Amino acid sequence: MQVAIDGPASAGKSTVAKIVANKLNFIYIDTGAMYRACTLIAKENGIDYGDESKILTAIDQNPIELKSVDGAQKVFVADKDVSLAIRTPEITANVSQVSALPGVREKMVSLQRHMAGKTDVIMDGRDIGTTVLPNAEVKIFLVASAHSRAQRRLLDYAEKGIHEDLAKIEHDIEVRDYKDSHRKISPLKKAADAIELDTTNMTIEEVTAAIMAKILEKRAK
Ligand code: CDP
Ligand code: CDP
Repeated sequence: MQVAIDGPASAGKSTVAKIVANKLNFIYIDTGAMYRACTLIAKENGIDYGDESKILTAIDQNPIELKSVDGAQKVFVADKDVSLAIRTPEITANVSQVSALPGVREKMVSLQRHMAGKTDVIMDGRDIGTTVLPNAEVKIFLVASAHSRAQRRLLDYAEKGIHEDLAKIEHDIEVRDYKDSHRKISPLKKAADAIELDTTNMTIEEVTAAIMAKILEKRAK
C-alpha cells in the first residue's frame, strides 16, 4: 500500500507519518528532508542556490540517503549524519529556491519512487499525491492556519536551542508556502482524490487516528 501525505509547512505531516509508519510497519519517506539535504549540499559547497548544474553535480558527488538508526529516521549526505544541519533557519529560508529547480526535482522524484519500491510506504511532502505516487491508495492533504503552524515551528526551534521570533516564523512560512504553491513544476496542490484535514484544532493523536481509519478502511476493501 502507498500512503501520500501532502500539505504546507508545519501542518504536522512528518510527525503523524512517522507514528502511522511505526504502527503499521510501513517505510516512512520524508521527501522534504531530501530537498533540505540538496540545499545543504549547495551551501556547504559554496554554490549559488540557483545554479542548477553545479548543484546537480554536487548531489552526484554527495549521495543523499535516508536511514533508520535505532528506530529514528536520519538523513545522511556522503555518509555524514546531517539530520540537524538541514533544519536550521538558513536552510529553511532557501529550500524553496533549490526545490523549484527542474533537474533537482527530477533527480529526487526518481530517487523517491525507487525508495518506495514495492513495499508498504508512507511518504510526505508537497507533490506526493499529484506527482510522485499518483496511484497511492490513500492521499491526505493536511492544512492548518499559518499562525498555529508558526507556533508549532517556534516550539520545534526552541527544543533545538534555536531562538526565533514568532512573527518572523509566520512570515517565513507564508513566503515559503507561496513559493511552493506557485512554482512551475509540481507545485504544492491538493490532488483531486485527496482527503483534506484541517489540523488547526486537532491534536497529533486525533490526526493520527483519522489517517489510520482511512488506511484501515482501504485495506479492508
Ligand atoms: O518541515 P517543513 O514543512 O518545514 O518542510 P519540509 O517538508 O521539510 O520541506 C522543505 C521544503 O522542501 C518545502 O518548503 C518545499 O520547498 C520542498 N519540498 C518539495 O518541493 N517537494 C516535496 N515533496 C517536499 C518538500
Ligand atoms: O512535517 P510538517 O512540516 O508538516 O510538520 P511537523 O514537523 O510534523 O509538525 C510541526 C510541529 O507541529 C511538530 O512539533 C508537531 O509536534 C506539531 N504538531 C502539533 O502540535 N499538532 C498537530 N496536530 C500536528 C503537529
